Amino acid sequence: MTSKQIREKYIKFFTERGHKEIAPVKLVPENDSSTLFTSSGMQPLVPYLLGQTHPAGKRLVNSQPCFRAEDIEEVGDNRHTTFFEMLGNWSLGDYFKKKQLHWIWEFLTQELGLAKEKLYVSVFEGNRDVPKDEESFEIWKSLDIAEDHILFHGVSENWWSRSGSPDKMPVGEIGGPDSEVFYDFGNDNLLEIGNSVFIEYQKQEDGSLKELSQKNVDFGGGLERLTTAMLDQPDIFQTDLYDSILRKIEEITNKKYTENKAGMQVIADHMRAAEALIAEGVVPSNKLQGYVLRKLLRRSAVKLRQLNKSADLSLIVSGKVIKDETERFGRTIDHGLKEIEKLDHINGKAAFDLYQTFGFPYEITEELFRQKGQEIDKEQFKAEFEKHRDLSRAASAGMFKGGLADNSEIVTKYHTATHLLHQALRTVLGSSVFQKGSNITAERLRFDFSYERKMTDCEIKQVEDLVNQKIKEDLVVTKEIMDKDSAGKSGALGFFTEKYGDQVTVYSIGDFSKEICGGPHVERTGAIGGIKITKEEAVSGGTRRIKAEIMLR
Ligand code: ALA
Repeated sequence: MTSKQIREKYIKFFTERGHKEIAPVKLVPENDSSTLFTSSGMQPLVPYLLGQTHPAGKRLVNSQPCFRAEDIEEVGDNRHTTFFEMLGNWSLGDYFKKKQLHWIWEFLTQELGLAKEKLYVSVFEGNRDVPKDEESFEIWKSLDIAEDHILFHGVSENWWSRSGSPDKMPVGEIGGPDSEVFYDFGNDNLLEIGNSVFIEYQKQEDGSLKELSQKNVDFGGGLERLTTAMLDQPDIFQTDLYDSILRKIEEITNKKYTENKAGMQVIADHMRAAEALIAEGVVPSNKLQGYVLRKLLRRSAVKLRQLNKSADLSLIVSGKVIKDETERFGRTIDHGLKEIEKLDHINGKAAFDLYQTFGFPYEITEELFRQKGQEIDKEQFKAEFEKHRDLSRAASAGMFKGGLADNSEIVTKYHTATHLLHQALRTVLGSSVFQKGSNITAERLRFDFSYERKMTDCEIKQVEDLVNQKIKEDLVVTKEIMDKDSAGKSGALGFFTEKYGDQVTVYSIGDFSKEICGGPHVERTGAIGGIKITKEEAVSGGTRRIKAEIMLR
């Protein structure tokens, strides 16, 4: 069955059951500045899920192209994409779990004819605030699904809102428990092919969840994944949806997909997404949607260059926008090359600067020097990269959410809070503690560190109190540039993998903390307000993880 037939069958199946087909909206939402892209079919329906009357009625169906920028780094396997088509049906306070699960099951097993034994379903196991979804469990059982094909999961798997689990939902956001269907390709290789979300809750100011005045169904099924399930092979890129783009990539690179999967998956997904965004008038830039488009094109250009040096991106998808951006990026590469010429020695730090300043991809720097007989210190590049990664991730997370103006400010606060936490852990637990990783979003910080055992409640409290005390002391944060040798001697924490002589930036917080870091940081700790440690857990043997949130005081 082709993807086109699957789409048609789905729309027909639900229109026959009283649903009105509604037109898909654009990928760049109109009249909604809270988000950059349409990332699910329910997005334009939020007012109606909240109770407003929809002109087409209470039962809706459609096929909605979606773009999820936050998945960009995941692309490069058999199932992840930034761009996909979501088949969706909705009940706006009309039918609920029973009809929905019956219908989805009927659609998958009878209309599409997927083998029952190959399907698994999952159900919400319940948490402190929302009960276990016994009703869905009973419905699935009544459909004759073997109990060992019904899985129970918590909020990380079986809860859906646009921002994830309940703790991540901003005030006003709607969501609820969901029930997914998976296709088994064998050897436990399960692929989610559909998700029925029971949207019945709204996040409140005090953090609780309130039941909505109506109970809604929001179903989404990826057309790419349904099509691949129908072929009983797990690679969505080997469906008709990617056929023509992959053939083109094979042709211009003169290489085979089956031997170059990861690179070609990135190019195929990104160029398909780029084409759709350009069709809506997005042009590459340094801001918002344009920034994301630029990233898609540049990542594709790098991958393409790795497959074949003379292949041109605009041969895959033609058009002036792509041609112009390819030329611009070509100049960036030239500019980077000139900078490289000026240097008599390229170390990992210089490679990082080229990457940071000129967008000059590491792989290309490495390749050029290999040609010149030089090896770049990859470890050093990685160390530099990781130092900057938290911030850029957080900044782009903010950007994907809609470029909220205060994101960079909150992220900066979290960054300084992370330094305080690092030192507080060393003070309380001893100097064997050192940072192993860190990740910051606009909502929380996450900090991994070396330590052998679980922290006691008392130790957690001591660490939290110490950080809050240092915040209250309103310590001044100062920045100094020094060479690594002096930084090391001054007791600054950080990477010391390199030879002496490199310049580094050292941030000090009063005389409490000193760390090598790229910044930025708040000027005084008082700006942070206060923190709360929300979790302490093991990551692996010898590594613990703390999550903490900034609290307004
Ligand atoms: N809105 C739900 C999802 O995106 C169906 O998975």
